[in-house]
Amino acid sequence: MQKPQIIAICNQKGGVGKTTCALNIAAGLTILGKKVLVVDFDPQAHLTYSFNIGAHDLKKTIYSVIKGEASLQETLIEHNGLKLLPANLDLTLVETEFATAPKREYILKNILTNIADVQYVIIDCPPASGFLTINALTCCHEIYIPLQMEFLALKGMSRLLSLIGEVKKSLNKELLVPRIIANRFDSRKKLNNAIMEKVLERFGRQVFNTIVRENIAVAEAPSFAQSIFEYAPKSHGAEDYLNLCKEIIKPQ
Ligand SMILES: Nc1ncnc2c1ncn2[C@@H]1O[C@H](COP(=O)(O)OP(=O)(O)OP(=O)(O)O)[C@@H](O)[C@H]1O
Ligand SMILES: [Mg+2]
Repeated sequence: MQKPQIIAICNQKGGVGKTTCALNIAAGLTILGKKVLVVDFDPQAHLTYSFNIGAHDLKKTIYSVIKGEASLQETLIEHNGLKLLPANLDLTLVETEFATAPKREYILKNILTNIADVQYVIIDCPPASGFLTINALTCCHEIYIPLQMEFLALKGMSRLLSLIGEVKKSLNKELLVPRIIANRFDSRKKLNNAIMEKVLERFGRQVFNTIVRENIAVAEAPSFAQSIFEYAPKSHGAEDYLNLCKEIIKPQ
């Protein structure tokens, strides 16, 4: 069986839409007939909570798998046609517990090596550029960076891009050029348009053609443990995320 395509949704800046993108891209790919695993790799566990799972009470999480206390298969949770590898706050312990472990950057890669019956793995990264993010960047084939077209959107980008460059040089030589998802776009806002122009000027074809518009239903859906496709299938959000997923699966 073919190895899955692993995609990390990453930006050390907080609140840009990483978890929202991970959830809806995973759901959209599932609708397009793909077998998808979505990995919560953020100790905040927002993705796990978005599936209406009480992360704090979970006995088996990605942390248990990393520690060798549970198998990947028995930790996965099936929800609306896709698989979730859940997290909780325990994930913060990994950094110190593995501080001196050899090959500590490959911890996530190692647990995802033998994954069966999955075509896409989507990893929701924390808003940080430390140990967990480096693990995600080391194990993925592609990185998608959600950006909001606001003042300071590009602040921190050069640091993120240089981190990605470092990882590519030393830990993951196959890493593809990162792609950018313009998120929460509102064409009525002058600033959104101006920043979008700047982003296109700087990143050109790295930016997905599909722009994800600001859409209230996108923000509401997780509180009903639903993706945008279940919660509001006729919304702009559903239309945008489906188009984004079509771009993702289109051969380049
Ligand atoms: N297209 C959108 N339209 C409206 N609201 C959105 C959209 N995308 C994201 N949001 C909202 O923006 C907020 C931040 O999104 P999200 O939690 O996905 O960001 P994040 O980058 O994962 O945050 P963190 O860095 O804390 O992990 C949430 O309230 C979410 O519902
Ligand atoms: Mg998040």
